[in-house]
Amino acid sequence: MDIFDKVAGNMGPLGQYADQGFGYYSFPKLEGDISNHMYFRGKPVLVWSLNNYLGLANHPEIRKADTAASEQFGLAAPMGARMMSGQTSYHQQLERELAAFENKEAAYLLNFGYMGMVSIIDSMLDRHDVVVYDSESHACILDGLRLHIGKRFVFPHNDLEKFESQIIHARKVADATGGGILVITEGVFGMPGDLGNLKGILQFKEKYGFRLLVDDAHGFGTMGSTGAGTSQEQNVMDEVDVYFGTFAKAMAGIGAFVASEKRIIKALTYKMRSQIYAKSLPLPMVVGSLKRLDMIRTHPELREKLWTIVTALQSGLRENGFDIGKTQSPVTPVFLKGGPVEATQVIADLRENFGIFCSVVIYPVVPKGVIMLRLIPTAAHTIEDVNITINAFAEVRKNLDAGKYASGGIPAVADKF
Ligand SMILES: Cc1ncc(COP(=O)(O)O)c(C=O)c1O
Repeated sequence: MDIFDKVAGNMGPLGQYADQGFGYYSFPKLEGDISNHMYFRGKPVLVWSLNNYLGLANHPEIRKADTAASEQFGLAAPMGARMMSGQTSYHQQLERELAAFENKEAAYLLNFGYMGMVSIIDSMLDRHDVVVYDSESHACILDGLRLHIGKRFVFPHNDLEKFESQIIHARKVADATGGGILVITEGVFGMPGDLGNLKGILQFKEKYGFRLLVDDAHGFGTMGSTGAGTSQEQNVMDEVDVYFGTFAKAMAGIGAFVASEKRIIKALTYKMRSQIYAKSLPLPMVVGSLKRLDMIRTHPELREKLWTIVTALQSGLRENGFDIGKTQSPVTPVFLKGGPVEATQVIADLRENFGIFCSVVIYPVVPKGVIMLRLIPTAAHTIEDVNITINAFAEVRKNLDAGKYASGGIPAVADKF
């Protein structure tokens, strides 16, 4: 078989509806300045699908800092990987400030969260080591585990009883191989919005002996008293051994970091293939991230505003009888019942007739028959946005319950690829 025929003939679970939905359900273009109000296909929409939690993406101070840094350094600098020719004092300063913010000895910048996590896992483990991880872990954790040739044990999402039985298995294997145990979970789970039970996991640490790595992509900047994340929220900052955060969400940038003991960060800087064999993070992003971190530290009102919107949205949805699952974070899922036809019509109705743009998730990410709409409240939203949205959702649910979206198939909305 020709490899081209094979690739083109199997688009995978995400690509199966590409011909029906390209440019609309997948790869939609949101235009205009990043904010609560943007444009989709020329029409204004109220946007609930950007991880711009603190509203920093278009904050005037951030825009100013980004522009000044781009003018000063251009986008090319520094040239080369950190280890070879891409080291700067700004990269080192950002690492020192992130480490201090996370109460860790040291931090290391990563060009992308996804690749960084893959490489952290790869760098920390050899074939003797054992991993125990949450079943709903993000793709970057699962893909990092693909590189791990030792044993791994998965536990059902946040199930501490099963976690303990898996850690017992892991201990036996590690004792036999002479390896160690790495537990991996998330701070905020990005789809359901619930928190990893870090405190619960850590209560087993002394008994069984392991190190804990936490991916806090959605928690960094949003959770905890100073925004230091889910480990701060659960009062376990010192007990989390390796903390990972991204700049792609609350920081409204790109890049990521890992923070831990100095000896671990030192080893990672010489072992992480995603960093050794890739160009360094551009200087404007590094200088811009220093400004973003400063904003997180000095403008707690941004986080307070975020949580005012989160509380209004989540309590309003609950009061109106919507199932928003177990979220404990800004991530707000809304669970409805229906198949792919209903899901696409619900989304089209929300966008075309109510001017509301949110993301939708269907099987295989959620069980068959479940439609998950996903809302990301931010500090850039208003209470009026919340009220408009809850009213629109109530109308759409009425239509859904009345069977209005059950026929007619998937709307013909695709752009040409
Ligand atoms: C839990 C989690 N980890 C890692 C990442 C990847 O981060 P980045 O966008 O910086 O590559 C994401 C982003 O979607 C995420 O949600």
